[in-house]
Amino acid sequence: MNEVTLDWAGRIAEAELGKTLPRRWAHSQGVAARAAEAGRLLGRDAELLAAAAVLHDVGYAPRLATTGFHPLDGARFLRDEYQANDRLMQLVANHSFALLEAEERGLRDKLASEFPLLEEPLLVDALVYCDMTTTPDGGRTTAQERVAEIVGRYGADSVVGRFIRRAAPEIFSSVGRIEAALAAQPR
Ligand SMILES: [Fe+2]
Repeated sequence: MNEVTLDWAGRIAEAELGKTLPRRWAHSQGVAARAAEAGRLLGRDAELLAAAAVLHDVGYAPRLATTGFHPLDGARFLRDEYQANDRLMQLVANHSFALLEAEERGLRDKLASEFPLLEEPLLVDALVYCDMTTTPDGGRTTAQERVAEIVGRYGADSVVGRFIRRAAPEIFSSVGRIEAALAAQPR
């Protein structure tokens, strides 16, 4: 499966998340909606961004949560069940600075060897932007509020709390770059 379409990705994500994790599915749809806007920066990769957006949290699905680290579980699912496109899997595996969370979980080497970072900064930033400006319910928010919400939800000293506090400066930089690019480009 090397051709990536939003239609295909959306069907897979909905099948895995729609019933079991409706809130996570609402978030995923919101992230995909942001991708539809940010996609104008990406030309022919707009559909890849949208597909990664709708699939980025698929690894939370209970039947897929093998390691409990959702970026890795999601990417392995796409590899093992769909032999998906490499760039799509790299985006899902590394979304929103997952490598930093993998470090907290002792999974950095596994993640980096199975799904290396995609060396395409605009795509990587754009997915951070889409995820980090979307609330857990799929609404629109700012990166600052989103990080604060995550710290509040998980606790500052939890694995996720430590990760997101370390990642925050990078998240704000990525989001800032995309916001600037969107502002500079006429609709
Ligand atoms: Fe995620």
